[in-house]
Amino acid sequence: MSSVAFDHVWRRFGPHAAVADLCLDIADGDFLVLLGASGCGKTTSLRMLAGLEEPSEGDIRIDGRVVNHVPPGERDVAMVFQSYALFPHMTVEGNLAFGPRMRRENKTQTREKLAEVASMLGLTPLLSRRPAELSGGQRQRVALGRALLREPKLFLMDEPLSNLDAALRGQMRSEIVALHRRLRITTVYVTHDQVEAMTMATHIAVMFEGRLHQAGSPAAVFDDPSDLRVARFIGAPRMNIVPGKILRAGNDVFLGCLGTHLALGAGLTTATANETPVQVGFRPSDLSFKPPIAGTAGFAGVVEFLEPMGSETFVTLRCGSEAIVARAPGRAPLTIGETVTLYPDCDFLYAFDSTGGQSLINRSRLGQTALAARRIPV
Ligand SMILES: Nc1ncnc2c1ncn2[C@@H]1O[C@H](COP(=O)(O)OP(=O)(O)OP(=O)(O)O)[C@@H](O)[C@H]1O
Ligand SMILES: [Mg+2]
Repeated sequence: MSSVAFDHVWRRFGPHAAVADLCLDIADGDFLVLLGASGCGKTTSLRMLAGLEEPSEGDIRIDGRVVNHVPPGERDVAMVFQSYALFPHMTVEGNLAFGPRMRRENKTQTREKLAEVASMLGLTPLLSRRPAELSGGQRQRVALGRALLREPKLFLMDEPLSNLDAALRGQMRSEIVALHRRLRITTVYVTHDQVEAMTMATHIAVMFEGRLHQAGSPAAVFDDPSDLRVARFIGAPRMNIVPGKILRAGNDVFLGCLGTHLALGAGLTTATANETPVQVGFRPSDLSFKPPIAGTAGFAGVVEFLEPMGSETFVTLRCGSEAIVARAPGRAPLTIGETVTLYPDCDFLYAFDSTGGQSLINRSRLGQTALAARRIPV
């Protein structure tokens, strides 16, 4: 059991900063997902935590102790890679027993532990097979088992599911989550897949180009994104973003956009001045085709494109010069070319600074998460 802190950590490669001023606290027992597009510095951050890479600046602490110069073998961390890195000539049992043998652990205890881990991961019937005789998911489970046998203080995983097909990925996702619930080993999990992040994490840290933009619970990064880039990155289909402005009338605040005035919900406030140009956001899932309350403002759009997914349909609408995506029920009777009115949920409206992209809306109703959201200039 362990806590981790990145304290103003930089990692430079020549003039390029792969990780820039990373500040992140990970509490004991957390499942933190480092999320971001390719090249944003996720692997580099993980490798620094594992001791495979040294920070150029700043401190990394495990349980309060600075580990910058502690070699990987002395950090008590186990890492699972995208490529399972199994020994092809050894059986599953041989692969699992390799680490304990190298560490000269007690043979009887190793045998017992190995049997327990194999049974936990459903590997018992496969112990005498070689990696080539296993499916991708089974191989990944052996890699996990090998890491588990270390009983590490920290579990580090770098895109461990990216080589699996969609169904197996879903299954392994729930297996890893169940394992974490059971063992409560602090885990740092790297992925560029927001579905993995949203479904597995207790906390998500979103990075762009080496910088942390937001850290918080999955609900916080989804419902209260700190800036436009996080808002666009989390959620599929993406949040709709249209140009607009802040309009104040007495105590009421409206977002003027798409030829209408959308009133902010009761829990939302902004300090932004009247008439300030902003980027207005609302998610496809927060649009309805009927007014939630009589008199709610909506905007008209022409149905341009339908994507029926079975249980839901994604609808692209033309609203003047903007294309808006809305989620409709699976069997919604919509036809291309028809004009409909859409009503955004006033509690889930967003406004972002039109130059810097920072969120301009405060959501007082949202509880503080254990890992307080950190807002940094974009
Ligand atoms: N050893 C290295 N030498 C020079 N540049 C490097 C080195 N390792 C990483 N980089 C650069 O640092 C940046 C971050 O790389 P990193 O591997 O951490 O990204 P990532 O977020 O893990 O991406 P991916 O999702 O593609 O794995 C990239 O621009 C990469 O090219
Ligand atoms: Mg990587």
